[in-house]
Amino acid sequence: MSHDHVEEHNNSSNPTFESVLDQRLSRRTMLGGAVALAAMGGAVSTANAHGYSHGHGNGHGYPQRKLRLNFNAVAKNLEDAVTLPEGYSYDVLYALGDPIARHVDDFRNDGTDEAASYQFRAGDHHDGMYFFGMGANGRYHKHESSRGLLCMNHEAITPAYLHPTGQTVVGGVRTVRDEVIREFYAHGVSVLEIVRERRRKPQHWSASFRKFLRPGNRSVDWDYEQASRFNRRVHTLTPMKLSGPAARTKYMVTRYSPDGSATRGTVNNCANGYTPWGTYLTCEENFAGYFRRVVSTDNPRRSAKEIASFSRYGVAGAGRELWATVTPDTSDNLFGRWNTEKLGVSVDGSDDFRNVSNTYGWVVEIDPFDPKRAPRKRTALGRFGHEGAELGPVRAGEPIVFYMGDDARNEYLYKFVSRAVWDPRDAGRGIEAGDKYMDEGTLYVAQFLPDGSGQWIELAFGKNGIGPGNPVYPFADQADVLINLRFAADSVGATKMDRPEWAAVHPSNGEVYFTLTNNGAAQRPITAVTPSNPRFYNDKRLTGQDQKGNPNGHVIRFKEGGGYADALSFDWDVYLFGARSTASPDNVNLSGLSDANDFSSPDGLWFSYATPGLLWLQTDDGAFTDVTNCMMLAALPGQTGDGKARTLTNVDGASSSTVTTYVGSSGGEKKLRRFLVGPKECELTGIAETPDGKALFVNIQHPGENTAPNYATSEFGSHWPDGGVARPRSATIVITRDDGGTIGAD
Ligand code: FEO
Ligand code: CA
Ligand code: CA
Ligand code: CA
Repeated sequence: MSHDHVEEHNNSSNPTFESVLDQRLSRRTMLGGAVALAAMGGAVSTANAHGYSHGHGNGHGYPQRKLRLNFNAVAKNLEDAVTLPEGYSYDVLYALGDPIARHVDDFRNDGTDEAASYQFRAGDHHDGMYFFGMGANGRYHKHESSRGLLCMNHEAITPAYLHPTGQTVVGGVRTVRDEVIREFYAHGVSVLEIVRERRRKPQHWSASFRKFLRPGNRSVDWDYEQASRFNRRVHTLTPMKLSGPAARTKYMVTRYSPDGSATRGTVNNCANGYTPWGTYLTCEENFAGYFRRVVSTDNPRRSAKEIASFSRYGVAGAGRELWATVTPDTSDNLFGRWNTEKLGVSVDGSDDFRNVSNTYGWVVEIDPFDPKRAPRKRTALGRFGHEGAELGPVRAGEPIVFYMGDDARNEYLYKFVSRAVWDPRDAGRGIEAGDKYMDEGTLYVAQFLPDGSGQWIELAFGKNGIGPGNPVYPFADQADVLINLRFAADSVGATKMDRPEWAAVHPSNGEVYFTLTNNGAAQRPITAVTPSNPRFYNDKRLTGQDQKGNPNGHVIRFKEGGGYADALSFDWDVYLFGARSTASPDNVNLSGLSDANDFSSPDGLWFSYATPGLLWLQTDDGAFTDVTNCMMLAALPGQTGDGKARTLTNVDGASSSTVTTYVGSSGGEKKLRRFLVGPKECELTGIAETPDGKALFVNIQHPGENTAPNYATSEFGSHWPDGGVARPRSATIVITRDDGGTIGAD
């Protein structure tokens, strides 16, 4: 099933591995070479993009401890509850509709809460998240664990539960303005002050809610401050600055911003990132579908390049929530700006919103400690379906690096390397420092090679054939490259992946992990397997229904050349393959998963900093849901190259394919265990921790989203978290260990 309105627009005919072999860097032929390189550590001197020499060791400088998972695996289940291991408890911290300003009423959760009040309430579909410790002076304090700002994304909405009886649509038109206004506010980001509470009981929890806490769930002493001056909602109406090379160019001109320097709002904020200067990054994923563009009437008014761009990014259709259909529009085009058709008569687009979709699809920087500061869309990081922006190792005198996945089927993995090198005096400087590190830099796309190596290919105007003569798309300038980055990646032979999701960087050795959530037979047939996306199989449901392709996904990882984030080459293997434990060990269950750790469709992925070496993995799954709800696992991974090469034969009826891949070591149940199972029809996504590792924040997204509600009888797909006959709500939970210890491992 499509949990995320998956976009599929990569019809490029990228070169096969055979043809790119000729271009590849001449590198090692055995994966064992990577391990030898790692063992040499800081002694290795490696060429990098900037040409300077690296004089010290790998990684962030965290020591690698011997770790042990400190819980027993939770069993797979289909309960409408959050299931945790014995010795762990949770409380709901922040659920859809919770008020975050003093004057706002408690949430009624029946669809009648005033639309305007939502700008002071928790949004829907909680997603990526980060905890910024805050000192008594109200500034970023990296090591503070008792008070902080929790920043989180609200990716999308479940309209069925937002309004009295779902969206009112008459003949394809949204006829109730307030419903649309409510939806505008329910998207975006929350910034929320939270405290480890010692003084009083939380006031916003009703007695009726408390009785639904599971037996044994003690109150965990965390709450948010409803009246905090830091509390803030960023949503689809928030003014934003465009920043970097594509800002103030002709491609960004709209009626809202005739000089192309600004836009309004952010949408489909999926995963996230943070910066060492104390800001939050929110990433615009499947933005394209929100815009209205009726192809039959708009295409005749457009240039061939514009049509190609719309097609590659999927800007076509009525608009996912039909926001542009509300009439009459307001004077500032709150509704009409979601229509990206060419309607005006101007040459430059300053009288309509024909270019507005170019102002979405970016990484957006927010300064949580400065609520008055406008967020900045960082165009230097490129435009695509941004899942997240994961910070690489931070070292004085070296560039800042972000790893980024493009979440759509057969899209790519990217990285951004800043032009400026890190000056530790910028720590905590806020969004102004972002101008220094995120507005100038170099973008690369990943190419995985059959021998277990890979290379980063630069995507810049004038490089690698990216110019007016490019056969895929005739680029005019660098802004054109950034806005149409997918075309640039297509044209240099980047490796199509099985739907990239989150990235995570191992804090001790700097190795980079990416979840590849799944792919379907129609989008990636058996003949299109590659060494880095090697499986094709039939994951039959208990009902007998076929699920073909790579419905269970995998987690790829790589070690940058010499361990340096700006390297131009890397060594890779597949850390984990999702599978049922009952699937064939020959070509499906390649990681040897058991009942204690089998999973499907990995999405959220995050390394603890408090406990370096502990990896959290979350699922957004529709394949294994005949057996279990979505889940979260804890893992203690080894390193790239710790497993072995495997040659697989994929078979589907008369079709087959054979491919050699590199399977890392899962370490078995000792190193990989199921920690949490979520309530019905939810996705687990978003993880944050306090710096002491004693509180873990986790988001439960859209419980009950797949079942059509029966409003008359109050029967819903889930009643979590409030229980009884209540409507389900996306929510942040806070998990603690009953003995006060660190979560997951010690
Ligand atoms: Fe929003 Fe990539 O999941
Ligand atoms: Ca989802
Ligand atoms: Ca995701
Ligand atoms: Ca997903």
